[in-house]
Amino acid sequence: SIRPLVAGNWKMNGLAAHLSELQTMATGFEDASGGAAEALICVPATLIDRAVKSVAGSDFAIGAEDCHVEEKGAHTGDISAEMIADCGASYVIVGHSERRTNHGEDDATVAQKAKAGWRAGLTAIICVGETEAQRKAGETLDILERQIAGSVPAEANAENTVVAYEPVWAIGTGLTPTVEDVAEAHTHIRSRLVEALGEAGQSVRILYGGSVKPANAAELMAVQNVNGALIGGASLKADDFLGIAAVY
Ligand code: 13P
Repeated sequence: SIRPLVAGNWKMNGLAAHLSELQTMATGFEDASGGAAEALICVPATLIDRAVKSVAGSDFAIGAEDCHVEEKGAHTGDISAEMIADCGASYVIVGHSERRTNHGEDDATVAQKAKAGWRAGLTAIICVGETEAQRKAGETLDILERQIAGSVPAEANAENTVVAYEPVWAIGTGLTPTVEDVAEAHTHIRSRLVEALGEAGQSVRILYGGSVKPANAAELMAVQNVNGALIGGASLKADDFLGIAAVY
């Protein structure tokens, strides 16, 4: 069976003062989850180094929220996967819908970023998910299929890759799909991964993201092929994050 991952994404939130919250999470996670899940928080680039130091001595992992495709060079303001790994992080989110929308990242770029993460020894969390208009048009499964085909490189496996299903309309809105819709999407993603990756596709973790909070985590995390959560707003507070971990 797949060991679940409870992952946070702080987005553009968090200053040094927020690191004490992270420490509380790292200290309390094993108790909260009964040792049944792994924990990760992805933080802004400015905090990676200090976040890694804050959780030292625990099993809590730290990740980044994006990386550049290249290892180094003339790319003012960008951060490479090697720089992220150099800070002690072990994961990087690629292709979050906010990057796809705000920075025009397409599937090919996302796939290149996943490979950049691997090059530096990071596990890539590759995000996919339909918009509200696409769902209303009945295109959800087609969109997921296209995003998986384009954003997940052929060499992906359970060690180097996690897939996150994040319906764009569920992010930060308090809305979530029904458990039936989550099951349909995750089962579809699983079958696409198996088709593309063979046996390796069976064990790649598929996280659900979009308005996960303690009150709805139990029912969402119990859905078949849901192997953990990618949590935005509720990952900023230790109470909420540990409340979600407690469903395991
Ligand atoms: P929320 O949990 O705030 O809806 O954000 C989800 C998300 O985008 C995580 O990457």
